[in-house]
Amino acid sequence: MTIRVTGTGSALPEKIVTNFELQKLVETSDEWIRERTGIAERRISTGETVSSLSAEACIKALEMAGRQPEEVDLILVATCSPELLLPCCACQVQDRIGAVKAVAFDVNAACSGFLFALNTAYAYLQTGIYQNALIVGSEVLSKLVDWTDRGTCVLFGDGAGAAFVEASVDDIVCENGRRAGMECMVQGSDGAKGMVLSCEERPVKNAFISEDIMQNPYIQMDGQEVYKFATRQVPACIHDALAKANLTVEDVDLFILHQANVRIIESVAKRLKADISKFPMNLDKIGNMSSATVPVLLDELNRSGKIKKGDRLVLSGFGAGLTYGASILVWGV
Ligand code: ACO
Repeated sequence: MTIRVTGTGSALPEKIVTNFELQKLVETSDEWIRERTGIAERRISTGETVSSLSAEACIKALEMAGRQPEEVDLILVATCSPELLLPCCACQVQDRIGAVKAVAFDVNAACSGFLFALNTAYAYLQTGIYQNALIVGSEVLSKLVDWTDRGTCVLFGDGAGAAFVEASVDDIVCENGRRAGMECMVQGSDGAKGMVLSCEERPVKNAFISEDIMQNPYIQMDGQEVYKFATRQVPACIHDALAKANLTVEDVDLFILHQANVRIIESVAKRLKADISKFPMNLDKIGNMSSATVPVLLDELNRSGKIKKGDRLVLSGFGAGLTYGASILVWGV
C-alpha cells in the first residue's frame, strides 16, 4: 500500500505588496531585499483568513481529484497562524467545504508543517485507518509580523496550498519503471534551538496572577542562525532520505523546497551537488508563506504540467521548532 496525490489546489490573497511599497514603511530597498532573499513581492491578506484560504485551496484540490467533499476521510491543516485557537482550523475547513464525515485537526510544525501533515496522513492511510486525506498548509503571517521591523517584515506573505492524497493498493508502474507513491520520509526536531525563530502567544494571566507581563506578540528571528540551520540540516536530511530509499541525488527530478530564501535554496543545491534547475522557485512573487510554500509550489508545478507521471520529487520543509524533514515520492497521476 502506498499513497498518491490525486489533486492539488492553492489560494492567495488578492493584494500584492511590492518591495517598493515596503520602502514606504521601513528603511529598506528593493535591491537589498532581492539580493538577500530573492523576494520581489508577496500577497498580503486584506480580510482573507487561514480557514477561508484553506477552504478555497481544498475545493480546487478536490475538483482536480474528481472527489466530493462528503468523500473526505481526514483533514489536516498545518498552520501556525490560525484565526481562532478554538475550534481548530481543520474543523472550520470541514464546515466551510461540507466534508461532513471527515475527522479534522491541525498540525503546527511551522514551515515544515505541510510535510509533517503529509507524513501523518501517510501513516493513517498506510495502516488502513483512513482511505484519503486533504492536507493543507495555510498561513496569514502578516498578522504576526512587526511591520516596523525591517529584519522580518520583508520576508513573509500569506496564502494556502492543499493536496488530496488517496491510499493506493494498486501497484502503478510508470513508463520509466518507477513505482508511483511515497518512497521514504525523514523528519526531525530540535527544540533546544527553538528560540531562534519564535512568536509568543498570550502569557499566563488569570484570576490568581496579578502581574501583567509585557510581551512582544510578533515574530522574532535570529536570521543568521536560521540560515546556518537550514543550509546544514536540509541537505543532511535529504541525504538521509535518499540513503534510506537506496537512491542518489541524480535519481531525483525535482527538489520542492520550502521557499524561505533563494540563497538558502542555492546553498542546498550546491551542497547536494545538484543542478539548480531541479529546484523550482516561486518566492520572488509570493515570499515566504511558512507551511503554505511547499503545497503552493507543488500546485503551481502540477497545474502548469511541469510534473510528469513517473517524476521523482523530494519535498523538504524546515523552520521554527526547529523542525525539518524530507519526503520522497514518485508522481503517479
Ligand atoms: N533592509 C535593509 N537593511 C536591512 C534589512 C532590510 N530589510 N534587514 C536587516 N537589515 C540590515 C541590518 O539591520 C544590518 O544592519 P547593520 O549592519 O547596520 O546592523 C544589516 O542589514 C545586516 O543584517 P543581517 O541580519 O546580518 O543580514 P543578513 O545578511 O544575515 O540577511 C536575512 C538577513 C536575509 C534574514 C538572512 O539572515 C537570512 O536569509 N536568514 C535566513 C532566515 C530566513 O530566511 N528566514 C525566513 C523565515 S524562517 C523560515 O522560513 C525557515
